Amino acid sequence: MDKLIIQGGRRLSGTVSVSGSKNAALPIIVAATILTEQPSTLRNVPDLMDLETLCHVLEGLGARLQFEKGTLSIEPIDQKTYQTPYDLVRKMRASIYVLGPLVTKLGQAKVSFPGGCAIGPRPVDLHLKGLEALGTTIEIEGGYILAKANQLIGTEIGLKGTNGSSVGATANIMMAAVLAKGTTTIRDAACEPEIEDLANFLNEMGAQVSGAGTATITIHGTKELNGVDYTIIPDRIEAGTFMVAGAITKGNIFISNAIPKHMEALTETLCQIGVQLDWQDKGVHITTPNLLAPVNVSTGVYPKFPTDMQAQIMGLMALTPGKSIITESIFPDRFMHVSELNRMGAKISVEGNNALIYGVNSLSGAPVMASDLRAGAVLILAGMAAIGETVISRIYHIDRGYEKIEDKLTNIGADIVRQK
Ligand code: EPZ
Repeated sequence: MDKLIIQGGRRLSGTVSVSGSKNAALPIIVAATILTEQPSTLRNVPDLMDLETLCHVLEGLGARLQFEKGTLSIEPIDQKTYQTPYDLVRKMRASIYVLGPLVTKLGQAKVSFPGGCAIGPRPVDLHLKGLEALGTTIEIEGGYILAKANQLIGTEIGLKGTNGSSVGATANIMMAAVLAKGTTTIRDAACEPEIEDLANFLNEMGAQVSGAGTATITIHGTKELNGVDYTIIPDRIEAGTFMVAGAITKGNIFISNAIPKHMEALTETLCQIGVQLDWQDKGVHITTPNLLAPVNVSTGVYPKFPTDMQAQIMGLMALTPGKSIITESIFPDRFMHVSELNRMGAKISVEGNNALIYGVNSLSGAPVMASDLRAGAVLILAGMAAIGETVISRIYHIDRGYEKIEDKLTNIGADIVRQK
């Protein structure tokens, strides 16, 4: 298995560019492949393992997808196959996105129940609740979700779970509702920019979705949708990860095509810590004076502080003098990275869904292991700031969500080598 070998202590400098958003591309690729019989072209698509896995799932449904230098050309599914292969869906939870589109387009779907992962149980009850509300009959058999519906009928649906709104359920129900009969109102919808991007894509296809980006989304069903040439938004989590990379190495970098509106909570937290962000028209300039101050952060649904940046900001806090506290409200178990950071000399303890971080003067390089996508990201950040060599194993977790990360960081001064 590949490893990343990092020599720490180098300040980053130069310009790094953000790729397209993984979490916007995933549902948009599904919509383009299942909800229309016309071909589509998607641009600014990042080259990521998760997208490659999704394309294999969709090829299993008869679609043909061609990826070339950030552009994905899509020939839709053959309208005959409605079952997804277990081994691929098990690998990637986002495959659940095919459920709503298949039911609304073909009247049936057979999708394997997605497994949990390192950040905790990943229920899909809200996805199923929404589809049932639209008129789908759902059976769970042999680890598969069997969904059937002759014609989905628009209705009012509340999608608030115990931990607030759900990005995945909002996307799934929105994609089911665009071809339903009548009007659907989603209450307590997720407000993430990726949901807005999906809604914009669906409207380009000829759908009638309004209110995306707010907690109430209204969809007037249409008969059919057309193919689209569309450009995916930049990845705000990759951008945020690079912001922390600049700060943790006390570097001086410019992050091009980051969108300020998508990153207000993170920007505010970094400013409170003492990082300087200078937003310009094409991105943001990051510099970090010596003095850093501890802060308390609680993750929440957008526009609150994103759970997908929790591990990364913890890495910066580990080197910030004083006591910082992180409260993880979305995935309470999302602290697998704490033990690995402590192996590098951090002083972090976990109490329930709170992490207490006592800043130390320096971290020391060590052999560490990525447990999930963002935990892997913080190990890269810590390794770049640490004294000595860090070797990260299981980096396939990182490749799921970061495009050529060692090349991008090497281009701005990091010493990172991928060992095959
Ligand atoms: C999306 O996951 C993202 N993944 C996650 O990013 C992100 O962490 C998460 O949203 C929260 O922002 C993609 O977009 C592919 P949720 P999703 O449904 O949709 C509970 C990454 O690093 N819930 O918004 O699975 C759930 O347990 C990944 O790129 C239910 O209870 O997350 C959680 O506590 C990691 N029932 C909360 O809601 C459901 O049916 C939010 O989950 C669905 C979710």
